[in-house]
Amino acid sequence: MKRIIRLENVIAILAIIHIGLARDLRNVTEPKTPEACVSLKASNGDDTNAIQKALESCTKGKAVALSSGIFYSGPLTIPSGVSLLVEKGVTLKALTNPALYDLGANTCGTVNEYGVGCKAFITMLGAKGSGIYGNGTIDGQANVTMTGKNISWWGLSKVALHENKFENNPQLVQINNSMDITLYQITLINSPFYTVAAYETNGFTVWGVTILAPATARNTDGVDPIGSQNVTIAHCYIATGDDNVSIKSQTATSSHISVLNNHFGHGNAMAIGSEVDYGASDVTVSGLTLSGSKIGLHIKSNAFRGGHVTNIFYDNVCIIDVITPIALDMRSTNLAGDRIPVFRNITFSNVYVLTKGRIMMQGFSETDQVEVTLKNVHINKNCTVTEHLAKVTGSLIPDATGTKCGYSGNQ
Ligand SMILES: *[C@@H]1O[C@H](CO)[C@@H](O)[C@H](O)[C@H]1NC(C)=O
Ligand SMILES: *[C@@H]1O[C@H](CO)[C@@H](O)[C@H](O)[C@H]1NC(C)=O
Ligand SMILES: *[C@@H]1O[C@H](CO)[C@@H](O)[C@H](O)[C@H]1NC(C)=O
Ligand SMILES: *[C@@H]1O[C@H](CO)[C@@H](O)[C@H](O)[C@H]1NC(C)=O
Ligand SMILES: *[C@@H]1O[C@H](CO)[C@@H](O)[C@H](O)[C@H]1NC(C)=O
Ligand SMILES: *[C@@H]1O[C@H](CO)[C@@H](O)[C@H](O)[C@H]1NC(C)=O
Ligand SMILES: *[C@@H]1O[C@H](CO)[C@@H](O)[C@H](O)[C@H]1NC(C)=O
Ligand SMILES: *[C@@H]1O[C@H](CO)[C@@H](O)[C@H](O)[C@H]1NC(C)=O
Ligand SMILES: *[C@@H]1O[C@H](CO)[C@@H](O)[C@H](O)[C@H]1NC(C)=O
Repeated sequence: MKRIIRLENVIAILAIIHIGLARDLRNVTEPKTPEACVSLKASNGDDTNAIQKALESCTKGKAVALSSGIFYSGPLTIPSGVSLLVEKGVTLKALTNPALYDLGANTCGTVNEYGVGCKAFITMLGAKGSGIYGNGTIDGQANVTMTGKNISWWGLSKVALHENKFENNPQLVQINNSMDITLYQITLINSPFYTVAAYETNGFTVWGVTILAPATARNTDGVDPIGSQNVTIAHCYIATGDDNVSIKSQTATSSHISVLNNHFGHGNAMAIGSEVDYGASDVTVSGLTLSGSKIGLHIKSNAFRGGHVTNIFYDNVCIIDVITPIALDMRSTNLAGDRIPVFRNITFSNVYVLTKGRIMMQGFSETDQVEVTLKNVHINKNCTVTEHLAKVTGSLIPDATGTKCGYSGNQ
């Protein structure tokens, strides 16, 4: 007898499978630090060659350990399967000579219209199973005067801002087209540009990492998954001068992202967009404390970028002393174009906004509205709320107060 599978049953099963999958689809647990293949001591000179050679001759599955002192290095590439371990008390400092990072046009360390003249300090390209581990620190030295110049990387960023141009500064860690990459426990400070950018990477875990830059340092985003999938960012403390976490998708979709149990200080929040051309979907942000930032939970696009932003779930978030605690904006900076964004199935559950601030939900047009569900969302009654072209299910309960976010993030 032939089995007949009815189409509506298949659809029902698919729908059930889909529920609760707005997250990293891997089962991610706390990473384990790989064993060292070699331990290096700092020479106090330029250690670029020593570290790079050790990385290249390390057995796959193991790590090059930087075990004592302050290391100075130019750009490094971490090969596939190999990791870098910066042990407790050790610092790896990025040399500040822009010529070391130049991509060939002699623009690194200058201001121009593009800002793409430098390679990163640490690069992983087409790597599988690589990572950066340890209780030590990687210092981008963006606050220090560049070699051969009278200005620091961040000084250059200020000039660029003033001139409405871009600084050509290195990212601290750049990961491209890679798989199963881990950053664990490391402290990343003073990045000249984005601290960690993961482009088109599948399987990316950032766990227990600390990222610091001053609130005034331009473009020092914390962790940016860009066109990446199966991403977990958990138990991190991030306080930077720009977006703490920013999900983007200029060349490929970003999806299945879990942002769990983090604390973000000054900076620009938990952002999706505005560069979401290829869409962002199935994102869970759970257990987040946001304090002292300019913007809290932020989704932004416009008719220039477009992009489908769907199945976004915020749960158990506490926001305090934030100027704009929640902003969903389909007309961000009002850039013109013909690619109308879609913001659909965006759920806020157990969200507390303890202090006054601006809450805004702005759709694109009558036919292209932002679609939001609110479940147990409490805000301070002094918040100003703008809902324009927004289909909102549920309501904001204006009864939240408090001077501190509790451990669980829900006051
Ligand atoms: C994750 O764990 C669950 C429960 O143990 C299991 O059913 C599922 O297959 C696992 N998924 C992956 C991708 O390993
Ligand atoms: C994400 O992880 C799941 C579970 O391991 C896997 O089945 C899926 O192929 C991954 N996604 C991509 C885009 O590789
Ligand atoms: C980092 O420090 C913690 C707490 O002291 C320790 O348990 C852990 O093993 C250290 N990690 C590494 C990679 O040494
Ligand atoms: C740069 O920052 C580091 C630590 O963040 C600090 O120790 C150092 O003194 C600063 N250097 C300058 C020149 O400001
Ligand atoms: C730094 O150098 C630039 C040109 O090399 C010069 O225009 C500028 O005045 C100098 N700034 C300071 C603070 O010395
Ligand atoms: C990584 O990807 C970005 C974005 O596509 C690109 O700008 C950068 O040059 C790439 N880096 C490397 C080392 O290929
Ligand atoms: C990033 O997080 C820090 C720490 O909570 C916060 O102070 C800062 O304002 C955030 N950045 C932005 C741009 O919101
Ligand atoms: C809406 O998003 C949630 C995650 O927040 C997901 O579980 C659900 O399947 C989505 N609903 C639809 C109709 O896609
Ligand atoms: C609202 O603002 C007023 C005036 O600043 C202040 O007295 C009051 O305590 C605030 N209410 C709450 C709930 O924070």
